[in-house]
Amino acid sequence: MAVDKKKTEAPKGAESTAYTFVTVCRSDELPEGEVRPLKARGKELAVGRLVGGQLFAVGGRCTHMRAQLGGGTLNGALLECPWHGSQFDVADGCVAKWVQRPAWMKLLFDATMPAFMKRSIATYDVKEENGEVLVAVD
Ligand code: FES
Repeated sequence: MAVDKKKTEAPKGAESTAYTFVTVCRSDELPEGEVRPLKARGKELAVGRLVGGQLFAVGGRCTHMRAQLGGGTLNGALLECPWHGSQFDVADGCVAKWVQRPAWMKLLFDATMPAFMKRSIATYDVKEENGEVLVAVD
């Protein structure tokens, strides 16, 4: 992939200030309501477009058992993990719902897992230029 040499401000939640926008796909590969597993500089991402056109880029692995979130589904601004149904808000990466299926696993986690262990996912700045989608990564 081509690398845009322009440095950017650090994205939300980032620890480093040295981020660069990297092309991850063509704009027409991300229709509204879809999410894809993509990579930028070896970093696994889930990149998608909400209904209405807003792009997002988040960490590519679920914080429960590392399922690939790019294979998940969008419900509004919530990205649902394909394995056990945890949902993450793509705006800030926060957990909206933790493990939902199967029922026995939901009951087990609801009963035994402290809230602080329900970890959010990373979020990245994303933009569209010249028919390409670019994500800021370090
Ligand atoms: S791996 Fe994502 S909810 Fe279990």
